[in-house]
Amino acid sequence: MELEITQPDDWHLHLRDGELMKTVLAHTAQTFGRAIIMPNLKTPITTVKQAQHYYQQIKAALASDTIFEPLMTLYLTESSNAKELTAIAKSTEVKAVKYYPAGATTNSDSGVRNLEKVYPFIEQMEKLDIPLLVHGEVVDSDIDVFDREKVFIDKHLIKLVTQFPSLRIVFEHITTQDAAQFVKSSSSKIAATITPQHMLMNRNELFRDGINPHHYCLPILKREKHRQAIVEAACSGNRSFFLGTDSAPHFKLSKESSCGCAGIYSAPIAMALYAEAFDNQNSLDKLEAFASLNGANFYGLELNEKKIRLVKQDFQVEKSYLIEKQDLIPLRAGKTCHWRTELV
Ligand code: NCD
Ligand code: ZN
Repeated sequence: MELEITQPDDWHLHLRDGELMKTVLAHTAQTFGRAIIMPNLKTPITTVKQAQHYYQQIKAALASDTIFEPLMTLYLTESSNAKELTAIAKSTEVKAVKYYPAGATTNSDSGVRNLEKVYPFIEQMEKLDIPLLVHGEVVDSDIDVFDREKVFIDKHLIKLVTQFPSLRIVFEHITTQDAAQFVKSSSSKIAATITPQHMLMNRNELFRDGINPHHYCLPILKREKHRQAIVEAACSGNRSFFLGTDSAPHFKLSKESSCGCAGIYSAPIAMALYAEAFDNQNSLDKLEAFASLNGANFYGLELNEKKIRLVKQDFQVEKSYLIEKQDLIPLRAGKTCHWRTELV
């Protein structure tokens, strides 16, 4: 079996920087035409100037025969200045602003502690029609880690959407029935990205045959009924759901540690995994909308002109990638994937 679809884009990607970036960028650019690049570097990207510099670094790290367009984002902090928004509106490189609750995930210390404090900034975003990308989890220590997303909807997201009805929001990497339902019942201004790991795995995969740090990401994997709900949303053809891998590389030593980092590295096999998830659901006819059309339409960008071919054929995933003497372990390392992807 095979199918050809418009080349997809990744609407949520961590590229990092330095040598690591070169490898992970090559993996992404094998398949994806563009990607929304997360700004959570060790020194977060908070200004358009920094984003333009990072953009140049990414472009310079690309192999000369590879066409790939990074779509940059700024990291929202409580001291973000509205003049950056005017600069975004004028820039060609920067497409959105990312909200991380402080302490929610990797490199999020500079994130926002009190969302209402940045409402004046968000009001300007709404006026300038700049999308807000939301890491939708609360971080309060008394909230169960599996409930962080639902509590975020109830405590913050409903209020945000009511206060700023024209603001375009991407609810990033949704993992629950509650989030899928929220997006479905919202206006077309509200969209969501969905990762391959949340479509294919439930929380049992964190503990199968012993604890598996390579399945640990944030938001954390959820129970089966939630997995089913987001699979259904992704495969429904609803224009508000689109592809965002949240591929987030950390070296093996940081993953296999007494205090392991959150993040799953899926870039080399991301399209293979999505194809598998859609195939499992007998919904391959909906894959193109999810992977290649809905995101571009939401962001108001042209579709990619190229096509990719997906061929149902088993292959073995690399066990690890060696980068400057450090191992990077991809999702499914050493195991089998069922869909080969190639640029046509
Ligand atoms: C991401 C990372 O490592 O940068 N980790 C993750 O588990 N997804 C941060 C994020 O997107 O939350
Ligand atoms: Zn992420």
